[in-house]
Amino acid sequence: MKKVAIIYWSGTGNTEMMAKAIAEGVGADAEVNLLNVSNAKADDAFSADAVALGCPSMGAEVLEEDEMEPFVEALNNPALKDKPVVLFGSYDWGSGDWMRDWEERMKGYGAKLVEEGLIVQLTPDAAALEDCKALGSKLASSI
Ligand SMILES: Cc1cc2nc3c(=O)[nH]c(=O)nc-3n(C[C@H](O)[C@H](O)[C@H](O)COP(=O)(O)O)c2cc1C
Repeated sequence: MKKVAIIYWSGTGNTEMMAKAIAEGVGADAEVNLLNVSNAKADDAFSADAVALGCPSMGAEVLEEDEMEPFVEALNNPALKDKPVVLFGSYDWGSGDWMRDWEERMKGYGAKLVEEGLIVQLTPDAAALEDCKALGSKLASSI
């Protein structure tokens, strides 16, 4: 069975809710490895057939700096080349700059972004959770 890794950082649970809904969307199409970034290694991404990465907008429109930023930095490796990847995360007052920067960065690492980064303001509502499920399904079918 194909493997999908979903690796996220979440301070107050919003991005974690998105991660769980994405996992649901992957469903029975692939084996899911849902990991908080504090328990993840770059190899968890490299060994998966597709990867979803989640992080809210933190600092001033950047990734969370203690765990997620070094994790993403470690993905700058030829093992990521052409890997199907989706990005997601929650935000509040910004306009999504962190996600656009993150997308460009992942493209620069050679990842194949299968969909635009999914951003949700604060806590995902039912419609946003459906969007997350659809994203998971799309990622699984891209493998
Ligand atoms: C230290 C800190 C910095 C933040 N910086 C931004 C920001 O630059 N832009 C923005 O839109 N939201 C910002 N936020 C809001 C978070 O992105 C928002 O609360 C999000 O829902 C948190 O997701 P989480 O529950 O997964 O941690 C910030 C929140 C915190 C605590």
